[in-house]
Amino acid sequence: MEAVNRFEGRTSMWTLTDDQAIALANAVQGKVVWDLGSGDSSLSRIVLHMGAKKVVSVDRNPPVKIKRAAEPWWVHEVRHTTFEDLNQEDEMRDAVALLAWPQNCSTPGLAHLVRWFENSLVYIGSNTNGAVCGMENLWNHLAQRSVVTHIPHEYNVLTHYGSSWGAGRSLLPDERAATSEEVVSYFDAYATGKYID
Ligand SMILES: C[S@@+](CC[C@H](N)C(=O)[O-])C[C@H]1O[C@@H](n2cnc3c(N)ncnc32)[C@H](O)[C@@H]1O
Repeated sequence: MEAVNRFEGRTSMWTLTDDQAIALANAVQGKVVWDLGSGDSSLSRIVLHMGAKKVVSVDRNPPVKIKRAAEPWWVHEVRHTTFEDLNQEDEMRDAVALLAWPQNCSTPGLAHLVRWFENSLVYIGSNTNGAVCGMENLWNHLAQRSVVTHIPHEYNVLTHYGSSWGAGRSLLPDERAATSEEVVSYFDAYATGKYID
């Protein structure tokens, strides 16, 4: 994973372990990826480097850091818009939705938007130890999807979801933590044998 190691390290939001980076690369290689709530688009550029066919960065805020950076603009397309203002597009069906540390305030448009990405969605975030990434309506949707890969880590989990054929499966620990009224520690969620990788 030479390409991943080039980008190794922590940002203010996410950290990827080697295993998570490999899972992300497997999910995006050769695919169209929509980075939903892309922030400074650094993850967009990583997935492009990992071999995504095309990357679309969506954020309501302009990518300030990128504009200041001296490096070239790699991402194919930037949609400076809200989730709510996006319309369904044909390519979404087979594209990968990438959700990294989604907002923990109400974003009804996001839960609606991700339904159009029928086949593949990668979630990176944390809902243990007091973190909250994503709202109830988003979790209601994710819980209906099948799980391709789930790689927990205390910094953040990476879950690659497939299509919505997973109804009836039990919740992953991070999903359980996300929908719990109480703060769940990472240890309680993962280290007590409730979840075995
Ligand atoms: C916590 S940041 C995560 C940024 C990036 N994914 C990362 O991991 O570094 C959430 C991002 O979602 C964007 N966002 C939140 N609500 C949005 C909405 N309704 N439409 C578009 N972007 C939104 C914010 O502007 C912000 O950049």
